[in-house]
Amino acid sequence: MQYLLGIDIGTSGTKTVLFDTMGNTIVSDLGEYPMYQPHSGWAEQDPEDWWRAVHTTINNVILKSGIASSDIKGIGLSGQMHGAVLLDRDNRVLRKAIIWCDQRTSTECEQITSLVGKDRLISITANPALTGFTASKILWVRNNEPEVFEKVRKVLLPKDYIRLMLTGEFATEVSDASGMQLMDIPARKWSGEVLEKLQLDKEMLAEMYESQEISGRISSRAAGLTGLKEGTPVAGGAGDQAAGAVGNGIVKSGVISSTIGTSGVVFAYMDKVSIDPKGRVHTFCHAVPNTWHIMGVTQGAGLSLKWYRDNFCIEEKRTAELMGIDPYVLMDREAEKTIAGSEGLIYLPYLMGERTPHLDPNARGVFFGISARHEKPAFIRAIMEGVVFSLKDCLEIIKKMDVGITEVRASGGGGRSPLWRQMQADVFGTEITTVNSSEGPALGAAILAGVGAGIYGSVAQACDAVISVKSRQAANMELNSIYGKYYKLYGSIYRSLKADFAELSKL
Ligand code: XUL
Repeated sequence: MQYLLGIDIGTSGTKTVLFDTMGNTIVSDLGEYPMYQPHSGWAEQDPEDWWRAVHTTINNVILKSGIASSDIKGIGLSGQMHGAVLLDRDNRVLRKAIIWCDQRTSTECEQITSLVGKDRLISITANPALTGFTASKILWVRNNEPEVFEKVRKVLLPKDYIRLMLTGEFATEVSDASGMQLMDIPARKWSGEVLEKLQLDKEMLAEMYESQEISGRISSRAAGLTGLKEGTPVAGGAGDQAAGAVGNGIVKSGVISSTIGTSGVVFAYMDKVSIDPKGRVHTFCHAVPNTWHIMGVTQGAGLSLKWYRDNFCIEEKRTAELMGIDPYVLMDREAEKTIAGSEGLIYLPYLMGERTPHLDPNARGVFFGISARHEKPAFIRAIMEGVVFSLKDCLEIIKKMDVGITEVRASGGGGRSPLWRQMQADVFGTEITTVNSSEGPALGAAILAGVGAGIYGSVAQACDAVISVKSRQAANMELNSIYGKYYKLYGSIYRSLKADFAELSKL
């Protein structure tokens, strides 16, 4: 038998999944780790935590499956995007990684815009300077921690640090590297011009591959630690969103995905470069050669419900543990006790600022319209609805960018909730489908490894063979019109508070 391994280095944990070549999950394992928030709007993680989770989960998967490691024909990496892992000349991690949802770099974004020029920056990197992206994080360290910066020899993305630990190679690939804001997106290579204008040395960056290309092989040290066979090929892989898109079959026009993970993303495939002139959605290289994608990103999707669960649903967590079920299942049941619109309670999910559509690092979460009548079910439902409204903000921009939409596929942890999927159908006013595998990014990474290892002819062929639609939920157009009124108010609450958010950030 031949197997493929997909490893997804996420924000709340790393998931390692063993697949057969038909995309069936054989065994999976999850290793969790913390996110550190030393100040409001800051977010950091320890790369050593990722590595520990990766080698432990690989080991567990191989042991649990009982297969011979020589039957694993390829490994694919997927990871949270944009994080900056800074290494010294001995490849030691210099400080905690500043990760994707960190919002500290407004000043550096202004600096990038003035050094490169607003229009030139957009025409090369396909995006305006954004606090989430890696370039501004590198500049922040240079501006604020010069003693750290002078020791930096390499800057890697989270999954590329794991590749270094697995293979000894400094390598990246086009989809994840797109989110560093140092690439020429149409040409799919590092931009000499941007690097020069930002005075960053190209030597700091990893070698660029296409996502399906083999970028290295398991070293003897990593083999000893993980149980993998030395020499097993590791493909480029992809940023979590592009990998998730491959794992959901978003590799052709018309089918788009709506993902609720820690962040929320609406993702569409493009066979040409197309840019929102206001920069509200990102244009990146897709994990399929010669294709690109656009995506709208909302910062606090699953993060919002997790935040509420961890702070206000202690009882549900305890009961769920006793019942042997996921606390989110109980929270869904609570949310179902109230009605669409949460009896007038509206939630803005801006716990970590917001990207699409506001590009506002100062925005913060809001419950609007609280009355003495509201109980916990309304708060849970309002959070779920607010997240779907933020996804609709993404969808509306994408619709205007000449993307024909025939199908919306729900995915991510939030996509497992039938209630949250139904809300998406009702708020968007479109049918929502799911596919046969819920392993999105890990499956996508494994498919890319399968193409690199020669098991599949191409990513599109692999997706045709492995991915099929499993469920369909139709929109309730009566609820669509109720939600429409709340969505309008949701937009206007942000506009009313925009200046106050900026004031708050100064306090
Ligand atoms: C995408 C993004 C997030 C992270 C974490 O631009 O920032 O999706 O990759 O999932």
